[in-house]
Amino acid sequence: MQVVYTIKDVHHTLRKIRRVGKTIGLVPTMGALHAGHGSLIEAAVKGCDYVVVTIFVNPTQFGPGEDLEKYPRMLETDTAFCKDLGVDLVFAPSADEMYPEEQLTWVEVEKLTEGLCGANRPRHFRGVTTVCVKLFNIIQPDIAYFGQKDAQQAAVIRRMVSDLNLPLQICICPIVREADGLAMSSRNQYLSSDERKRALCLYKSLKVCREKVTDGQRAANTLIDTIRDIIGQDQGQIDYISIVDPETLEPLKTVTDRALVALAVHIGPTRLIDNILIDLKNSSKIV
Ligand code: PAJ
Repeated sequence: MQVVYTIKDVHHTLRKIRRVGKTIGLVPTMGALHAGHGSLIEAAVKGCDYVVVTIFVNPTQFGPGEDLEKYPRMLETDTAFCKDLGVDLVFAPSADEMYPEEQLTWVEVEKLTEGLCGANRPRHFRGVTTVCVKLFNIIQPDIAYFGQKDAQQAAVIRRMVSDLNLPLQICICPIVREADGLAMSSRNQYLSSDERKRALCLYKSLKVCREKVTDGQRAANTLIDTIRDIIGQDQGQIDYISIVDPETLEPLKTVTDRALVALAVHIGPTRLIDNILIDLKNSSKIV
């Protein structure tokens, strides 16, 4: 496995790979890799001849007062993790390499970025979509892998690729959870042991929501109230609880067919997100 830090080195390596007709899979990450990232890497290793993982804590997707400085950086552990999983190339650029001068060109997806996480993180998705297009252009993958853990990000990236006719496929992988149900996240390491216990309320509330839907409840407001009560019991500070169409992210009043139940909650100072997908036509697909 090769580790490179410059765009020039990526081009140099990938030119040879493309020349021999290998398919390239890309897994974009911000590092502090865990089994959630690992599942994306495994899917890429399975689906492509050559796998690139990018590790870049992208400053343009952090707002003022967010955790850019304190975001965990552990390149050595991360590269060892990638090597074990069969990654071919790690690209770990500096901020100067990715943004050598003031970025004047931005890629913005409208509407889908206004609600959910976008409501309280106004420039977040503009940073995500812009850095992803930059990475797609640098690496030119055949397939890029993203996680359903960041459901809004996945919907936004899919829409961007479709709207801009970007020449790659997007593969969305299911959420990987700890044994007790907490969705894996690089931010979980911020939690104290008490907060770690309380953080279970996110998935607990989503599971109860899923049970209520299975029992016939269809009213979004009633389902949201149930979730709010469970999170309140564990003193989680709710940022949002939303039931939306999984593609358009438009709020639903009634769960009729497919729905995304998504939430963001502060446990102490740490903001966590989680979600479940409901598919009434195929109830085995409520994941
Ligand atoms: P990061 O938070 O490092 O996540 C990288 C990818 O791993 C994302 O697609 C995310 O959805 C996926 N992921 C994280 N936790 C997961 C879990 N528990 N199960 C399944 N997949 C999981 O998302 C970003 O970085 C950035 O916004 C990025 C796309 C790299 C752009 O900077």
